[in-house]
Amino acid sequence: MLVLGFESSCDETGVALIEVPQTGAPRLLAQALHSQISMHQAYGGVVPELASRDHIRRVLPLTREVLAESGHALSDVDVIAYTQGPGLAGALLVGAGVAVAMAAALDKPTLGIHHLEGHLLSPFLSADAPEFPFVALLVSGGHTQLMRVDDVGQYQMLGETIDDAAGEAFDKSAKLLGLPYPGGPHLAKLALSGDPKAFDLPRPMLKSGKPDFSFAGLKTAVLTQVKRLGDAPSDQQRADLAASTQAAIVELLVRKSLLALKETGLKRLVVAGGVGANASLREQLNASCAKRGIRVHYPELSLCTDNGAMIAMAAALRLQRGMATLERDGAFAVRPRWTLGAA
Ligand code: KG4
Ligand code: ZN
Repeated sequence: MLVLGFESSCDETGVALIEVPQTGAPRLLAQALHSQISMHQAYGGVVPELASRDHIRRVLPLTREVLAESGHALSDVDVIAYTQGPGLAGALLVGAGVAVAMAAALDKPTLGIHHLEGHLLSPFLSADAPEFPFVALLVSGGHTQLMRVDDVGQYQMLGETIDDAAGEAFDKSAKLLGLPYPGGPHLAKLALSGDPKAFDLPRPMLKSGKPDFSFAGLKTAVLTQVKRLGDAPSDQQRADLAASTQAAIVELLVRKSLLALKETGLKRLVVAGGVGANASLREQLNASCAKRGIRVHYPELSLCTDNGAMIAMAAALRLQRGMATLERDGAFAVRPRWTLGAA
């Protein structure tokens, strides 16, 4: 069976084709991605209307690219999967609309996928796929959650952020430091030449005893330091503040992940979402988990941020388990706000 997957929830248009055997691991045949980062950079963040329009421009050329690379025709596709939510309503509508229209033309069914389930299952695209059950640390631009995952579709929330997401904390702090959007990777780069102990930044809720998070106070503390440094901070001061900010975010993520692992007694951690690309986070999680006999799985670096492969993979794993609600009626609804695990 062949699954074509579309991702269009935010600022990346992703398309991928996956081959799904009856049993055994689904295989990624081809994928293509267009990032809108350079388009939104001038505005310092994602402009939803521009995002939707760009998805419209990109989705069909990317689909042609994927089909050509895989050597398959569109008529070979058996199921068309798309990101149904959460995300920007207009952006989601593009992917959903194209998927449903294409499926209607081919007389094939569609399958709406939860974006975070895509992230969560993205490590199954790597050669070293995890086994269930595991604890998942989902760290993206909009979400920060720790979950117990017993199988596809069996997600139990252990803790989440009460305010900003970890990616948001990276992005907002980076903006305060005058770095371009999206700030996470830029802040991480600047942090390389800084001293993580130079600034004493808060670790909100570090000692709450629960695997939940808060990042809003950290952003305020970074703002205070930026103001204190004045109009012309030195390169070293900026690097030090970037390194100290990253250290605070990473410490919170590591400590709370360890707490969730301890609470569940599980010995496997899966890290997914854009912030999972952060090298310092990976380094510190690896070191802390190795000491405790815990295996850590990451998606491949290129698959940490949004992509079509993770959507096609989530669909493939659902199809293999007979858990997919396939639609054929040509109707669709996107879900801009949608909690993972909610019906
Ligand atoms: O998962 P993702 O691509 O999109 C959402 O679903 O939100 O995550 C994007 C987030 C952004 O906040 C971005 O700054 C952050 O992931 N990010 C990073 C790194 N790469 C991406 N944050 C820290 N370090 C990185 N290397
Ligand atoms: Zn995402």
